[in-house]
Amino acid sequence: MTRNEWTSLDIKDLKDIKTELTRFMMAYKFALDEMNTKINILKEEFTYIHDYNPIEHVSSRVKSSESIIKKLVRKGHDLSLESIRENIKDIAGIRITCSFISDIYEISNMLQNQKDIHLLSMKDYIQNPKPNGYQSLHLILEIPIFMSDREEIIPVEIQIRTIAMDFWASLEHKIFYKYNKEVPQSLINELKEAATVANELDRKMERIHNEMAEIKRL
Ligand code: GTP
Ligand code: MG
Repeated sequence: MTRNEWTSLDIKDLKDIKTELTRFMMAYKFALDEMNTKINILKEEFTYIHDYNPIEHVSSRVKSSESIIKKLVRKGHDLSLESIRENIKDIAGIRITCSFISDIYEISNMLQNQKDIHLLSMKDYIQNPKPNGYQSLHLILEIPIFMSDREEIIPVEIQIRTIAMDFWASLEHKIFYKYNKEVPQSLINELKEAATVANELDRKMERIHNEMAEIKRL
C-alpha cells in the first residue's frame, strides 16, 4: 500500500469515528430537548392549577467529551462508546430549582408517572443528606427518542432542589473548586451548619406558604 492510500484510509476512519461520535452525542441532546419540553409543560400546567410557579429555574447541559473521558478514567472503565453508554448516566443533565421541598417530590412524581419515562435510579439526598450537608433529589430517567432509522432509550440525570439547596451547592462547589486540595476543617463545619440553616429556612418558608394558602381558602 502506498503512503497516499494509507493517508486516505486514515482520513476515512477518522471521519467514520467522528460521524459515529456525533450521532452518539446527538441522541443525548435530543433526550434533553424531549425532557425540557416535558418540564415546560408541567411548569405551565402546574402554574395554572396551583396559582403559583413551583419551578423557579431550569438549566441543562450535555456533558463535554472531555468530562466524559475524565470520568471513565476516574472510574476505571474502558474507553469505548459501549462503555460510555453503560457507565455514564449523566451525559444529559437537567437541574430544576423549585420554591418548596414538597414541589420537588411533586415534580419528581409527575415525571415518573409519564408512560414513556422509566426510572432507572433515584438518590434522595433530602431524606438522607450527604455527610457534607448536600441536599437534592437525583433521578436518572430513561426516555425514548425517535430518529430517522431507529429508536433509542437515553438516560437523563435530573437534579431537583430548592433555591436554598442550590445556593448552598453552588457555594460548596466554588469552595472546593478554588481550594482544590485541603479545605480547612472550620470551613467544612461552617458549610455543614449552613446546610442545616438552609433546610430550616426551606421548612419555615413552606409553613408560611401553607398558612397563607389556608387563609386564602377561608
Ligand atoms: P458523579 O460521579 O459526580 O456523577 O457522582 P455520583 O455518580 O456519585 O452521583 P451523585 O448522584 O452522588 O452526584 C451526581 C451529581 O450531583 C454531581 O455530579 C454534582 O453535580 C451533584 N453533587 C453530588 N454531591 C454533591 C456535593 O456534595 N456538592 C455539590 N455542590 N454537588 C454535588
Ligand atoms: Mg455528575
